[in-house]
Formats: sequence, C-alpha cells, structure tokens
Amino acid sequence: MNANLLFAPKSAALFERAKKVMPSGYTRHMAVAKPHPIYATEADGCWITDAEGIKRIDYVNNFSALIHGHNKKEIVEAIAKQAGSLISSILPSESEIKLAELITERIPSCEEVRFTNSGTEAVMIAIKAGRAFTGKSKIAKMEGGYHGQFDLTETSFQPNPGNWGDESAPNSVASSFGTPQSVLDEVLVLPLNNIEAARSLLRKHADELGTVIIDPLRLQVGLVEPETTYLEMLREETEALGMVLIFDEVFSLRCSYSGTQGLRGITPDLTTMGKIIGGGLPIGAVGGKKKFMSVFSISDGDPKVKHSGTFTANPMSMVAGYTGMSLLTPAAFDSLDRISLSLREGLNKIIVDLGVAGHVQGISSLNALILCDKPIRNYRELVSAVMDGFLDRLGVYQALLMDEGLLTMRGGFILSTAMTQSDIDFTLEGVRNALIKMKAM
Ligand SMILES: Cc1ncc(COP(=O)(O)O)c(C=O)c1O
Repeated sequence: MNANLLFAPKSAALFERAKKVMPSGYTRHMAVAKPHPIYATEADGCWITDAEGIKRIDYVNNFSALIHGHNKKEIVEAIAKQAGSLISSILPSESEIKLAELITERIPSCEEVRFTNSGTEAVMIAIKAGRAFTGKSKIAKMEGGYHGQFDLTETSFQPNPGNWGDESAPNSVASSFGTPQSVLDEVLVLPLNNIEAARSLLRKHADELGTVIIDPLRLQVGLVEPETTYLEMLREETEALGMVLIFDEVFSLRCSYSGTQGLRGITPDLTTMGKIIGGGLPIGAVGGKKKFMSVFSISDGDPKVKHSGTFTANPMSMVAGYTGMSLLTPAAFDSLDRISLSLREGLNKIIVDLGVAGHVQGISSLNALILCDKPIRNYRELVSAVMDGFLDRLGVYQALLMDEGLLTMRGGFILSTAMTQSDIDFTLEGVRNALIKMKAM
C-alpha cells in the first residue's frame, strides 16, 4: 500500500467530513480511491499539489480534458477577462461563433456545431438527432463502451460473465438498478473488433436500428482499441443500411489536430466532443454534416429535435475553449507526439530491462503501460485479464507510482503540453523504481 495514502492525515480528515454529506463521501465514482482519496489544493502546469503539500505530475489531466495541463496562463487570463464582462446570459455572444468556426475548420465531419455542457449531454442530443434523421429508434453501441452517464448508453458498459450472454450477440445489460427493460430493448450491443458478428447484427436489426455510436479510439480507458478495419466496416454498413454513424470523440479528439477521425481517415455522420474543447471548463458539442444537423434547424418551422439549456454556450466555457484550442496548433500536436513517443520508448525499454510482463500502447498524447502480456481485443478479453489479477497488479503499481510523484489512472499516461522532456525523464525513473519494488513484493 502506498505510504502517502496511508499517511495523509489532512486528506483523511477531509474525507471524514465528506462522508457526512455525500454518499460514501464521494460525488464522482471515478474518483474513488482506497482507503480514501487524496484531496487536491492547487496545481500549476503538469504538477498537482495535494492537501499534505505533496506535488505529483498529473497524468490524468482531469480525464484528458486538460490538454494544456493546469492553469495555462492564456486560458486563465481569458477566463478572468470574460468573468469581468459577461458570465452567462440568454443572449448569444460572439464567443460561441468563434469556437464553432474553429471546430468546423478542423474536424472533417463537422460542417455545423451545437454546444452542450458536457460530453454526456452531447451524446444525448446526437442520439436524438440520429433518431430524428432516420425515424428509427434503436441504437447500437459496443459492449464495454463508455459514452457518459445516461441509461441508454450506459447499457453494457460493465457487464459480467453472469449476464453478458452470447459473445457474438451480447445481451443488453443495465448499469444502474431500476433501468427500465424498455430502455435496454432500445440498445443493440455489438462485440468490438468482431467484424462478421457485428455486421450480421447490424443487418439483422436494420429495420429498427437508426444510430450507431462508437468511441473510435478506445474502450475502457484506453485498454482496448477499435481496429481500423472494424471502423471501416461500421462506416460501410451504416451507409448502406441507412443508419447514422456517431464517432464519440469526447475523449479521442485530443489525438490530432483533426481528431481521431482525421488521423484514421474515416468520417462519421455526427461527432460528439467535450473535454479539450472547453479549455478546462464544462463543455460538450455535437457536430456533423449539414444534412444531419438539419434536424436542429428551424427554417421549416419547429425543429425535429429541440435543444437548449441554461448554461449552453456560456461565454466562460466558450472563451476558455477557444483559447485552449487556438493554442493547439499542428506544431503543438507534433511536440506532444514527440514527448509521447519518448515516453513510450522509455517505458518499453524498462519492461524489457526488468523482464516485466506487459506491453506499451499509445497514440499521440494518450499512452498506457498495460501489465498484461496478452493483447486485449475486446471487453471480454479485458475482463478475463482482470480476473487473472490484472486489476490487482494495476492497483499496486498505481499506488507505487504515487510514491514516485506520479498521479496516474488505470496504467494510463495522458500527456499535456505543459510537460517537457525532463518531466518524462522524471517519470521514467519513477516507473522503473515502482516496477522494481513491485517485482520484489
Ligand atoms: C467517450 C466519452 N464519451 C462521453 C463522455 C462523457 O463526458 P462528460 O464526462 O463530459 O459527460 C466521456 C467521459 O469520459 C467519454 O470518455
């Protein structure tokens, strides 16, 4: 167990207070840590400081949203200036046009954009758009795929061997107690990276299935990647069968100047976005070709899909997002790619030197050292690796990394533009030390 976690009296005391006012002390399940979370007090660049005053390099970057790390000067200044002039209002402001222009210039599928307050909300309205466009209510998603927090897309996020059913035609499994069966009946669950099984499911349900959603980059925090041939099959089949294909790029947009779709050369009909486009403030967006976005249009009277929201396109998120995205030039992506590659090369060398069973994977600023020597191609293979002790190893490794001054989650290293080669060198030394200690346990 991590010594810092065991001796973090200020965080422990905060957690005692939290337990009195929040269920089990948390308001975000992804933040759960044993025996209690460590609480943050401040951050600067790639370093985050906890309540005890310990600094660590932040490789979580608020689940990838903080692509510039913490408190990027230009973003802080833009937020401060905006806060002094207009925080939110019913009147639209130029700030939303600027961010929409930037996104439509960069992301291949996005001729038009609408903003939301979170990635979850973006997915919700993208699915409504898919339904309204096709007139077909059912959606398809990957087994194990995450698309935010609402019952439709939470379906089969984390099913287990007792309820997941046939591998080539998975069951629709609820994530929360009380989910109505009628919701589950609206979701077709596809096996990731099994082209033939997924193709035949799509064809079988074509009459009622209007929308297919996939994160084109990863499933379960980067542990499983959709293969390009699988994405190509989805593109071909959805087009042929009259379905709307959504790439959920809430997480993966940070992979390149034009998102994962630009990198892979596959253009979806609609794209959901969030995280990096908000410069650290809450945001979401759905974009797509005019043809699909026309469901929001009021030119023929009432829109097919109504969409509003009290804080939608609030100028604070818009200016923070615009400033952060403007700093993400092609050169900024090149530099992120370079230090990321150097991290991956270093991690590979360490596992070879130490003879550790594992492999390194990554793309652009998203990297992971996976302490499991077998490749994992889908959710079920991941579960079998977890049952093989993968999660336990990961827990120990993550705690040892904390002691080395590295804040990580699930083996991932999510980089920010605030990081330099010397931060990578510090990281590699920490990983080496952690793995040496782990081997000795
Ligand atoms: C692929 C994907 N979609 C949707 C979401 C939900 O976004 P938010 O947390 O902003 O609601 C996430 C969040 O991690 C995500 O990774």
